[in-house]
Amino acid sequence: MSKIIAGFSKLSKEEKITWLTANYFADQPAILQTLQQYWNVDEKLQQLHDDFIENTISNFYMPYGIAPNFVINKKEYVIPMVVEESSVVAAAALVAKYWSTRGGFTTTVLSTTKIGHVHCMYAGEKTDIQTYFEAQKETLLAATESITKNMRARGGGILGISLVDKTTALENYYQLEVLFETKDSMGANFINSCLEAIAKAFENEEIDVVMSILSNHVPQCVVRSEVSCAIADLGGDNPQQFAEKMYQAVQIATIEPYRAVTHNKGIMNGIDAVVMATGNDFRAVEAGAHAYAAKDGQYRSLTHCTIDDGVFRFWIEIPLALGTVGGLTALHPMAKLSLDMLQKPNAKTLMEVIATAGLAQNFAALRALTTKGIQHGHMKMHLMNILNQLEASVAEKKTVVAYFQDKTVTHSAVVEKINNLRA
Ligand code: MEV
Repeated sequence: MSKIIAGFSKLSKEEKITWLTANYFADQPAILQTLQQYWNVDEKLQQLHDDFIENTISNFYMPYGIAPNFVINKKEYVIPMVVEESSVVAAAALVAKYWSTRGGFTTTVLSTTKIGHVHCMYAGEKTDIQTYFEAQKETLLAATESITKNMRARGGGILGISLVDKTTALENYYQLEVLFETKDSMGANFINSCLEAIAKAFENEEIDVVMSILSNHVPQCVVRSEVSCAIADLGGDNPQQFAEKMYQAVQIATIEPYRAVTHNKGIMNGIDAVVMATGNDFRAVEAGAHAYAAKDGQYRSLTHCTIDDGVFRFWIEIPLALGTVGGLTALHPMAKLSLDMLQKPNAKTLMEVIATAGLAQNFAALRALTTKGIQHGHMKMHLMNILNQLEASVAEKKTVVAYFQDKTVTHSAVVEKINNLRA
């Protein structure tokens, strides 16, 4: 029998689950129980989550952790993080504490311009479309008046519009490139609405609009976060050697794409976790970050390091299109709580906090990689997952954690230890 179904979205939640379990699962009561286990008892709150997307049948929990002791521009923060990878929050907390006694993190928002395009096709004379654009420019902007009114009152709006000739790359292809300032909102809906209004006013019998959409490549919406201290103050047995290894690790990620991708993935461990916790769009941030990492044609590290004149300096420069108003930020109670925890930042401050979380994460990863190796800390944090997989009791967990305090954690070593205990 076919499993293709018409009108699925119109079914009730219960009907959807019944259809799903009947068609794709053998043990239907168990599946229903698992799905229901994750429903919120507060029906209104559950309804709120149901309405975020279509065909919601349950919720998917992610751990919500906090990393205290961040000092950013001399102000203290505790940073909320939503992430499933065991060592991420611990690493952030460790590095935050470390730098809190070495001057903390210093951040600067370099720019906040966002960008969108009306992509169109035109086969006529180049000078004619240019003349038409110049003549229409005011009309195009006027077409967005009602959409931009509130944003303009907040100091944002459209910063500029230009016609870009792309015909050497693709026959007949032109763009209207529009620059935006969206203040404290991420601005995706605002930008797309403006672009669609502009497209409507621009197209004619000869100009065929293909699509109108913001770009998640935001090389003009960039923030920098950095730490620095005298090499001698880095601590440890051999701070000079430590600084040099950190420097070399960053150099390797700058010239070797295989390493750069993993290096930047570690940065995104910190970035995405805070982006998620604050109800922002982590796919947009991911796409923009990786495009920026490849902006000169080769994929490179998003962090940088120097060790000049006895000073260790380590920084990140990353594009972050974020909002502290609109979207899920006020709607999702946990996103709102996160923003309250961060002392109600505006979008610029949130850019600074999130870039810092990324830098901290990279510092932690490189420090581990260039000293003890990554598995030492990682497996220690993963130990609890292994114990949960083995359904260890509270007493067993306590014994095993104590046992592995000074030993290397491996899956087989934990299994062996548990088996011994149980024998
Ligand atoms: C793991 O999630 C992230 C790391 O691989 C990052 C890195 O290698 O820099 C540890």
